[in-house]
Amino acid sequence: MYNFLMDKQIRKILAEAEDLLESANSQEQLEKLYIKLFGKNSGLNKLTKKISTLDPVYRPKAGQSINKAKNHLEKIYKDTQNRIKTSKSQQVKELIDVTAPGEKTKIGHLHLVSQAIEEIVEIFTKLGYSLQSYPEIDWDWYVFESLNMPKGHPARDDWETFFVKSNSNPQLGNQVLTPHTSNGQVREMERVKKTLPAGRQAPIRMINIARCYRRQVDVSHTPMFHQFEGLLIDENISIPNLKGTFDFFTSHFFGPKRLTRLRPHHFRFTEPSFEVDVICDVCGGQGCRICKSGWLELGGAGMVHPSVLKAGKIDPDKYSGFAFGWGIERTISMKTKIPDIRLLYQNDIRFLEQF
Ligand code: FA5
Repeated sequence: MYNFLMDKQIRKILAEAEDLLESANSQEQLEKLYIKLFGKNSGLNKLTKKISTLDPVYRPKAGQSINKAKNHLEKIYKDTQNRIKTSKSQQVKELIDVTAPGEKTKIGHLHLVSQAIEEIVEIFTKLGYSLQSYPEIDWDWYVFESLNMPKGHPARDDWETFFVKSNSNPQLGNQVLTPHTSNGQVREMERVKKTLPAGRQAPIRMINIARCYRRQVDVSHTPMFHQFEGLLIDENISIPNLKGTFDFFTSHFFGPKRLTRLRPHHFRFTEPSFEVDVICDVCGGQGCRICKSGWLELGGAGMVHPSVLKAGKIDPDKYSGFAFGWGIERTISMKTKIPDIRLLYQNDIRFLEQF
């Protein structure tokens, strides 16, 4: 009779436990139930403690019934655990929609300076110029002396040059970080001469694009910048050829509305010399923080000085030519209205993405 009562209590505990486990649907709920079902104060443990109060005849049977109930409870607990795990992975599977469009991979693009270089080369290639490269650390001879700027000449000061510690060459002097691409002028004369039949010293049509270095920093100056240098030498070359070349370039690069003008200037390696200006696109010629006067200086130009032709072993009585050297960063700022060319080198993706 007493044993019958205990069996009834066991059945009640199991029935309640089954209901609780059936309604559990998360790992957290299951963990809380574990304490309730198997902890010190669980129904089955309380019954176990009562065994000692039973008539000794009923004790073994009561112990067996409680153990059987505990085993059954452990089994249905594990089954519930498995059910919850399976339904969770099911939900994850349902979250993956294989028909949804994939995420686009971000693809970069050429830096603005590289884009401009490509464009400039393309325009000059149409005019028959070939792209050459000359050293960015070069001898005093090619950077200054062959360009009619002897040692100690004040004109050199304009180039605010970085000097390099190196062994001096008796013919070529010391080395410098090239402050302009004009170091390619005499080098190109020497290179082309080697490719021509004996007695011929031209034609030359070179475009030389390189990094240049000067001790300068402000909205329109960076210590490292790029120049593109043009050099054309042949028989009967005169200023109209130079002006026609600039008009061709500016109309292709900036568009037909961007007017240019030549201003008389002085360079030691060209005679006559000019500065080439383009109308400012930020203010349309009114004058602003960038241009001040309404015009932006594109670069320098002029007819190659006879003494430079001589330094390149070219006969100035037979040949003449023009040269120009323009800044790429400035050229970009004139086209894109960038208010400060230093932005080009700050690697800010928000700026670079706009181009
Ligand atoms: C020269 O460098 C001459 N070699 C150009 C030349 C070549 C004249 C051939 C005649 C014949 P200039 O110092 O003005 O000239 O520089 C030319 C251009 O380079 C400038 O107009 C400007 O566009 C660019 N430039 C010069 N310094 C900087 C700088 N620190 N940062 C950015 N651009 C610069």
